[in-house]
Parts: sequence; structure tokens; C-alpha cells
Amino acid sequence: MSQSAIQADNLRKVYGRSDGDVNALDGVSFAIAAGETVAVTGPSGCGKSTLLSLIAGLDRPTSGGLAVLGQDLGELSEDGLADLRRRHMGFVFQSYHILPTLTVWENVMLPLVPQMGTSLELKGRALHCIERVGLERRIRHLPGELSGGEQQRVGLARALIADPALILADEPTGNLDSESAGIILDLLFELVRDGQRTVLLTTHDRGVAQRCGRELRMRDGRLVADERGK
Ligand SMILES: Nc1ncnc2c1ncn2[C@@H]1O[C@H](COP(=O)(O)OP(=O)(O)OP(=O)(O)O)[C@@H](O)[C@H]1O
Ligand SMILES: [Mg+2]
Repeated sequence: MSQSAIQADNLRKVYGRSDGDVNALDGVSFAIAAGETVAVTGPSGCGKSTLLSLIAGLDRPTSGGLAVLGQDLGELSEDGLADLRRRHMGFVFQSYHILPTLTVWENVMLPLVPQMGTSLELKGRALHCIERVGLERRIRHLPGELSGGEQQRVGLARALIADPALILADEPTGNLDSESAGIILDLLFELVRDGQRTVLLTTHDRGVAQRCGRELRMRDGRLVADERGK
């Protein structure tokens, strides 16, 4: 029996506004098994990023159930959510979200500094992650001294520092040309395979979606298709 990495039951998210509510998620249900690679696709505004932020525990659903890595998120406090995120999830974003004043090495260590300080152990772990994305000759560079594709590789290395079971990526190749995007995806899938990780990414790119084992297609806050690749 494979444990669900993510289980969503009739998830709804309403953003209340004075000029009218927005039903960003309008009753979404699915289960993702551990080890799956899943693309969430659909037009701009259909609710992809909203879904990711709920799964990350960065925001709460208006109603519905959500279990991630065996934990019912509705039962966790804010601290509990932060802990689950820090220990078991890695994040990759379109705009990299790496800090411009920190070096590659420091950026990769950052998520674990609160727990581990700048210990030798953490430095070693960060180096290992940096080597895996092929940036060992850039460890003391600042982000501004790197190409876009290299910056995204820093983002990937940082997502791996906690050895997460689940990687959430919001348009991880959105700012990259197709060659750099291909490199990032090759790396991501290699890292996912090696660690038996689950990955959920959003994308507007058909090619990216097709490389995932499964595609959840959304429209207007609803799931309109759930397709598995070959
Ligand atoms: N904080 C908010 N307050 C009000 N409405 C919001 C808020 N965040 C998102 N929305 C609305 O919710 C809907 C879903 O937004 P979301 O960011 O999830 O879309 P998306 O599918 O990720 O789009 P894109 O492909 O452009 O990134 C949109 O209509 C958006 O305008
Ligand atoms: Mg989005």
C-alpha cells in the first residue's frame, strides 16, 4: 500500500474582497502517491499557485480536507505547519527567491541555519547539494554574478538541503530559455528519482507538463482533467 503524499478532499479557497469574492479553488479533490511527478496546468488565474500555497501550509483552505505526508494540515498549528515545511518540503520558484547579498553557498544553507547554525555539518551538506547541481565552481559567487539558469540551480540546491520528501515548484522554468529549462528539469527529475521524492510543479509549458508522470489540468478553480503519461 503506497501512502498518499498529498490527499485533497473538496478543497475550496475563497478570497473575500469588497468588490466580490474570488473562488480561487472551487472543490478540488485528488490523491498523489509518494514518488509521483505531477504537473498542475491551466490558464492564468485558474488557481495553481493557490493550490500550492495550501499544500505548503502557507495559507489555509476556506473548507475541505488536506493531508500532506500523512499529516492532516487542518490539525496542525502554524508552528506545526512551519515545522513540516522545514523538515520535509523543498520549494522552487519562478523568480528563484534567492537573496542577492548572500553567496551561493550561504543561500543554499539558509533554510537550515535556524536549526543548525552555520555548522561545519551544514556547510558540508550544502556543498554536496551544490555539487549535485554542478555549481561547485561558483560557491562564493553572488546571485547577480550568475546566469538565470545558474540561479535556478541554486534554487534547486536550496530546495534539497533538508532532503525533502516533497518538492513544490511554482513555474520552476518560467523565466528560463528552453535550453536552461531542459537542464533544470533533467536535474529535478534526477534528484527526484534518486531520493524517491514526490514533486508537484505548476507550469504553462506543454513540454514540461509532458515530462511529468501525471497532469492535473485546472480551469476556474476546478480540476477538469487528470491524465497519466505513458
Ligand atoms: N490574495 C488574493 N486576494 C484575492 N484574490 C486572489 C489572491 N490571490 C489570488 N487571487 C485570485 O485567485 C485566482 C487564482 O490565483 P492563482 O495565483 O492561484 O492563479 P494561477 O493559476 O497560479 O495563475 P498564474 O498562471 O497566472 O500564475 C485568481 O483569479 C487571482 O486573481
Ligand atoms: Mg501562479
